[in-house]
Amino acid sequence: MRRLADVDPDIAKTLREEAQRQHRNLELIASENFVSDAVLEAMGSVMTNKYAEGYPGRRYYGGCEVVDVAEELAIARAKELFGAPHANVQPHSGAQANMAVYFTVLKPGDVVLGPNLSHGGHLTAGSPVNYSGKFYTIVPYGVRRDTERIDLDEVRHLARRHRPKMIIAGGSAFPRAIDFTPFGEIAREVGAILMADIAHPAGLVAAGLHPSPVGIADFVTTTTHKTLRGPRGGMVMCAAPHAAALDKTVMPGVQGGPLMHIIAAKAVAFKEALAPEFKTYQQQIIRNAKALADALQARNFRLVSGGTDTHLMLVDLSSRNVTGKDAQEALDRAWITVNKNTIPFETKSPMVTSGIRIGTPAVTTRGMREADMMEIARLIDRVLSNPGSTAIEAEVRGEVQELTGRFPLYPERT
Ligand SMILES: Cc1ncc(COP(=O)(O)O)c(C=O)c1O
Repeated sequence: MRRLADVDPDIAKTLREEAQRQHRNLELIASENFVSDAVLEAMGSVMTNKYAEGYPGRRYYGGCEVVDVAEELAIARAKELFGAPHANVQPHSGAQANMAVYFTVLKPGDVVLGPNLSHGGHLTAGSPVNYSGKFYTIVPYGVRRDTERIDLDEVRHLARRHRPKMIIAGGSAFPRAIDFTPFGEIAREVGAILMADIAHPAGLVAAGLHPSPVGIADFVTTTTHKTLRGPRGGMVMCAAPHAAALDKTVMPGVQGGPLMHIIAAKAVAFKEALAPEFKTYQQQIIRNAKALADALQARNFRLVSGGTDTHLMLVDLSSRNVTGKDAQEALDRAWITVNKNTIPFETKSPMVTSGIRIGTPAVTTRGMREADMMEIARLIDRVLSNPGSTAIEAEVRGEVQELTGRFPLYPERT
């Protein structure tokens, strides 16, 4: 076998250097995680070679008897994990999972009530630069100014006024748990389809630590790579009456051949998520997020909505004299990785922003605990209280390296 290092030393070097960066840095991006070696093995497997358009037992190609087994396992485990009547595990990404639902139930121009991007929604909930905003008539809802939590009165009012064909619940930057029950009531009242996008809290939902939309929403979409800690990809679950239409939209509607190596890796991740240790892991994610949120607040950082119930928090930097962009860049130089993020009622552009989003799934996978969160808050505070100080950034780099060095990551890849 010719190894990558011999065939392509340049790419082999980038792989090694990326593994080293992931080991060295403090990964606080709320949508990222570190998959197990078992998931990586399935992703880097011969299943990438197989064309398998269609579904298990109903493929357009021959030779699918083995990949059928892998996809059936992924489907069965996804259904068990979420208690879902039907699961389609083929979407290549979260954006394509959402597109599959749009294309299953809507016609171009239909009205969709979805979360405002700058209040925590995802691009696929109606951003003008996304297919969702280009093809559909979007009515955005947001959070309340006083509580910075979803304004259900506004959702109800807008639903009655605009009679949307579909309502979306869920997003990318909501630090608080979402109760899907009132969304279900509003959707039923106005005759709308409810789509719950649980890309972010999916792991918490699977572990029973966040309300589940299954049984309430008509469609539940998710990514598999965030809190769920699987390979990069998407999935849609739905009630039985929508199953045939959904499957037809995913393939041939919006995708060609499924990524069978990724589907095999999804099956592995779902098996891991069904094990009791996964619940312990998700509980620790939440404990760490609360500890980090408390420690940041004790250091005079304002958190949107005053805290978190989930794996993520939004830090409003307006009173700290630094923009989200500058904070992200300064922290990056100190080997602390976060992303700039708009905050509700944002006054700056999405390229600058007033906030940063911080999440604990990845550092929790590494084994960090509450005491480490206090240390992380101190390091963030040091960098952001000394904007532009290269000396402080260098000192913090040393402290970050000391901290991450105690939690080895992919040792055989670095
Ligand atoms: C709520 C939500 N939905 C959908 C997506 C899209 O997922 P992907 O990046 O896999 O397309 C994301 C990604 O961040 C997300 O946060």
